[in-house]
Amino acid sequence: MTALTIEGITLLIGANVHIAADDVINEGIPSQILQALGTYSVLVFPRIHLNDEQFIALSNHLGEKEAVKATADGSAPSDKGVYRISLDKDDKTQLEYVKGNDFWHMDGTSYKVPGKATLLKCESAPSEGGDTGFASLFAAYDALPPQRKQQLENMRVRHCLAAVGRKLYEQPTEDDYRRWDAVFPSTEHPLVWKQRDGRTSLLIGATADSIVGLPEDEGTAILQELLEWCTQERFTYRHHWQKGDLVIFNNPGLLHRSYPYNDAAGRVMHRTTLKGTEAIAH
Ligand SMILES: [Fe+2]
Repeated sequence: MTALTIEGITLLIGANVHIAADDVINEGIPSQILQALGTYSVLVFPRIHLNDEQFIALSNHLGEKEAVKATADGSAPSDKGVYRISLDKDDKTQLEYVKGNDFWHMDGTSYKVPGKATLLKCESAPSEGGDTGFASLFAAYDALPPQRKQQLENMRVRHCLAAVGRKLYEQPTEDDYRRWDAVFPSTEHPLVWKQRDGRTSLLIGATADSIVGLPEDEGTAILQELLEWCTQERFTYRHHWQKGDLVIFNNPGLLHRSYPYNDAAGRVMHRTTLKGTEAIAH
């Protein structure tokens, strides 16, 4: 039996997983990884140095991969289904996408079934900046005062890409709005996301635009208050990348973000996303 060791990083989020690259799809290992992902939300495999074949094989053992439509640098998608994230091409949509990742967000809030997990592999570590932050929504929701939970219970929230775009530009043009709305128009969700395993998450983050039925300033204040609550240090883990690191994160239970870096920093990541299995109840 292949040895896999898991050690928690903080009290509420993250674990380091130690296993050899050759062993990640050995019998019993993918199921142990999935179980640990449920427990810790973020799994770090320090300098495991998976090659792309091993990365894809592990992704396929953990779930069903999302199809890759385009890569972040505008190059053709990898035939292996890997999404490349870097800042080395000058494509406005892709640059906005990468820059937008610097805000706390959940992936897939335009869908009824957001992705289940994301795997990120560091091909080239940034010379400076470019960490990735994770905040446990499960832990943060649990810690809310019971009265606050009750107040939030039946609220509904609107998400859209324009909410992110307005953070990037002081004066967006009509063209900008058209571009954003074409990708991710306003979509309504419950604010509180009760999941099958009994845990509860919150649909907040950069794409959250307003609370349905509340004046704009009141809704914004609630979303901001929850964002600040959930991203307190005790609920977060910030990963500083080294070449060869692999991180797997449980998307529906987290907010995540990148920290700024510039195109000279040389940060290149390979990513796969696993299709969701947990629908947002409507
Ligand atoms: Fe993301």
